[in-house]
Amino acid sequence: MRIICVDDYDEMSKKAANIVASQIILKPDSILGLATGATPLGMYKYLVKTYKDGHIDFEQVKTFNLDEYYGLDKENKQSYYYYMHENFFKFINISKESVNIPNGMAKDIYQESLEYERKIRQCGGIDLQVLGIGRNGHIGFNEPDIKFEALTHMVNLDEQTINDNSRFFDSMEDVPTKAISMGIKTIMHARKILLLASGKEKADAIYGAIYGKITPKLPASVLQLHPDVMFIVDKEAASKLN
Ligand code: F6R
Repeated sequence: MRIICVDDYDEMSKKAANIVASQIILKPDSILGLATGATPLGMYKYLVKTYKDGHIDFEQVKTFNLDEYYGLDKENKQSYYYYMHENFFKFINISKESVNIPNGMAKDIYQESLEYERKIRQCGGIDLQVLGIGRNGHIGFNEPDIKFEALTHMVNLDEQTINDNSRFFDSMEDVPTKAISMGIKTIMHARKILLLASGKEKADAIYGAIYGKITPKLPASVLQLHPDVMFIVDKEAASKLN
């Protein structure tokens, strides 16, 4: 596990974008695992800039997003589909067919999950998985639990996650309580993992993920077992590490 502490959100974003860009330069047909939320927004901005400056090409890249809210369609401004298009995909030369995001409107979520796993396998697996982290230590939407859920599945979101996510919605009633998420095994199978965290509200989760016991009660702690994982954390998120 490599831990890189940086000054602030901007430096975290720049470093993360550089790592993703290097991955694409070294392997133009990379399979990227992508995250949403507030944390990777700066990284996407820098990646778009790197693309516009002519340094990277997404023509052969394929992407798989970690998760999607259950019950939100693609046009819904709060859906992760919408987020990815508005913040990233519409600015780069990636084809529609190369983008994969779980379908939160699928009638049969179990089938949708199996199909998502099949697609990832068919592409040869994820080369680089980008992760954020919840205040409760969740990765993807794998919430604290009594066991690690292995594969893509339907999740009941934690009360804390619902509260945290409510900042993006008009009212509490609009916040979805369920999501479809890659599982821990799906994430752990990625060849490389890059976790980003910024802000003091992530400090406890970051401490637990790095120094805590490996437990499904803090899902990110499982990353201690991954052979190639890098955390990029800003000063505030790293504040409990020393
Ligand atoms: C999003 C995701 C979540 C977020 C986490 C942190 O695709 O998988 O695990 O990374 O909830 O969210 P932010 O970045 O908004 O603090």
